[in-house]
Amino acid sequence: MIKVFNLYKSYGGIAPVLMDISFDIQDGEFVLLTGQSGAGKTTLFKVLFGWEKIDRGQILVGGINVGKLNEKNLYQLRRKVGFVFQDYKLLAKKTVFENVAFAQQIVGSNMKTVRTKTWNALKNVGLVKKKILTHLNCQAESNSEFQ
Ligand SMILES: Nc1ncnc2c1ncn2[C@@H]1O[C@H](COP(=O)(O)OP(=O)(O)O)[C@@H](O)[C@H]1O
Ligand SMILES: [Mg+2]
Repeated sequence: MIKVFNLYKSYGGIAPVLMDISFDIQDGEFVLLTGQSGAGKTTLFKVLFGWEKIDRGQILVGGINVGKLNEKNLYQLRRKVGFVFQDYKLLAKKTVFENVAFAQQIVGSNMKTVRTKTWNALKNVGLVKKKILTHLNCQAESNSEFQ
């Protein structure tokens, strides 16, 4: 669950980019954020996940008080929250399978679980066995396959 209370964020300009923002997102809820270029969408994501500090207000993500986290314990949040980037952020030297398995390995899941979850995830999106053991830099993938 994500809860935001009276959030303010400024980059030092005349007006804050985020001004008195409050909302709740429940577990399992699917939410889309839209707005004009420069409206503050990226800034909101950055403060939600601890990439930018807030000026005022409170942010709770899965029970973690994000505004109170310091550099040393940001990893607690980063282990809970996943991001799919527009430009994929895939690792070209790794195979498709290794890319999907990577985040799970980083958080210390056991190898058996990692293997099972990775195979299932790839099967669910129709990526066939032959391809997933190929290194990304060795194959001409379509954009939809990367996504
Ligand atoms: N690091 C930064 N330093 C100063 N101003 C910034 C920075 N990042 C974004 N801004 C400004 O904050 C406003 C919101 O930007 P942004 O969150 O990227 O909007 P959006 O993602 O909705 O296009 C814009 O006016 C932008 O120029
Ligand atoms: Mg943006």
